[in-house]
Amino acid sequence: MAHGDAKHEQLDGVRADPTGTELTTQQGVRVDHTDDSLQAGERGPTLLEDFHFREKLTHFDHERIPERVVHARGAGAYGHFRPYDDWLRDHTAAKFLTDPEVSTPVFVRFSTVAGSRGSADTVRDVRGFATKFYTEQGNYDLVGNNMPVFFIQDGIKFPDVVHAVKPEPHNEIPQAASAHDTFWDFVSLQPETMHMVMWLMSDRALPRSYRMMEGFGVHTFRLVNAEGKGTFVKFHWKPVLGSHSLVWDECQKIAGADADFNRRDLWEAIEAGQFPEWELGVQLVDESDEFAFDFDLLDPTKLIPEEQVPVRPVGKMVLDRNPDNFFAETEQVAFHTANVVPGIDFTNDPLLQARNFSYLDTQLIRLGGPNFAQIPVNRPVAEVSTNQRDGHHQQQIHRGRTSYTPNSLGGGCPAIAGSDVFRHYQTRVDGETVRRRSASFTDHHSQATLFWNSMADFEKDHIVEAFRFELGKVEHQHVRERVLHELVHVDRDLAEAVAQGLGMRAPEGGTENHGRSSPALSLAKSPGSVAT
Ligand code: HEM
Repeated sequence: MAHGDAKHEQLDGVRADPTGTELTTQQGVRVDHTDDSLQAGERGPTLLEDFHFREKLTHFDHERIPERVVHARGAGAYGHFRPYDDWLRDHTAAKFLTDPEVSTPVFVRFSTVAGSRGSADTVRDVRGFATKFYTEQGNYDLVGNNMPVFFIQDGIKFPDVVHAVKPEPHNEIPQAASAHDTFWDFVSLQPETMHMVMWLMSDRALPRSYRMMEGFGVHTFRLVNAEGKGTFVKFHWKPVLGSHSLVWDECQKIAGADADFNRRDLWEAIEAGQFPEWELGVQLVDESDEFAFDFDLLDPTKLIPEEQVPVRPVGKMVLDRNPDNFFAETEQVAFHTANVVPGIDFTNDPLLQARNFSYLDTQLIRLGGPNFAQIPVNRPVAEVSTNQRDGHHQQQIHRGRTSYTPNSLGGGCPAIAGSDVFRHYQTRVDGETVRRRSASFTDHHSQATLFWNSMADFEKDHIVEAFRFELGKVEHQHVRERVLHELVHVDRDLAEAVAQGLGMRAPEGGTENHGRSSPALSLAKSPGSVAT
């Protein structure tokens, strides 16, 4: 039986506590002095032979590694996850989801997306919610966000959306996630972004605390049971403290007063023994219902409404331990959507397919070569035994003369296991090679409208204010116009209220609101003003 401290115990082997020890070089030689370099005479030049001086500076010169290309700023914590009971066994062979006797260690990293490592916590942005489960069957990473959908349908556009979101390349301004022409230019030219943009303009983009934030796997994944039968699944994290947001003015002030607001909150809560908790839930869809929805399950800009498929609770995660060292753990942790265990598999969601390529690729450069899975925070508690050898920063001394399969010489080579192996889900794939998405991906507005209709009046007001603020920063009139054109397709009242605040008129046209009609907005009636 695994228990929640297996990772903690594993890390004991590498924890360093230099208190009370004597200063040495990296080679273990005790040094006599560390304040003055060796010089030729009291006012002379520094001597090359001062190996301690050179080693000290060289190491310092190499202390930084590239920050993540997205989600650069984050905060992490350890904890554990335990399922409530075994009901999910009908659908998955993953033991950590089905055996209530098993408590699985986890490491979670929360993040903002657009800002650099040193940026403020309380910006308007998506938040990352990435969980590494150190299961008995190997590491499983649920690399999610705090919003259930994404900006784009196909990962080939990811560099484009990120280039549009990040500060402009010529002057690296603005650092804010969304308030600039390039972002809104992209949004207005890619209508598939509209559903996510509605979430981004809502209070969900301003979480009060990581402890009070939902998480979503976003994609439709697949659970696979012991008999090899698949079930579509969406993953949800529900915070036990409930979901709470700041308001925009608070965010602005806090960003100035305490840029570490969310990071500090998580750290202090755990230090105080107020351990944050989330319930893991799943929405399950039988394979026979793959086409039962008015959207495509493979489209990551769509969610499955909870009224249609309720979220069923699976178990609880508790975060109860802060890392010992930010760099070693929170910075060096490497999540990857392709880190799956038996019982969990992918679908053909084209965004997920791209992610399954991208994470490993970027980590090879970010973490300096192919052995980053040996970094303590990334190391599985499950036994690791591969034929992979050598490479930068190899930490293991593999013994034996063979590292290939098959071989008839023995000595060093792992054997293929007979049971509990990962087998890729068998599904039929055929079709012509095309750069064309199915027509089932073309509705970009219905769920944006659904989201708008689900908002309380004060939430609608906040969304209108956010659009007014953001678009008020956009210099190019034609970009504003195109965004208004998209908003008309979401809801006419929304588009008019935003336009009024910008001193503009909403364009004609648009589609019928697919849900109930929008109640009159208080802001729509107020004198128009561009928020600043
Ligand atoms: C990093 C989530 C889409 C590429 C991250 C992180 C999260 C995340 C939470 C931070 C991981 C950490 O804390 O270390 C998501 C979600 C997506 C999405 C939920 C859509 C549903 C994509 C796509 C790509 C991508 C489409 C590329 C095709 C990356 C890269 C990193 C990253 C390169 C940096 C990883 C690292 O340096 O360790 N993503 N992402 N993401 N994501 Fe995504």
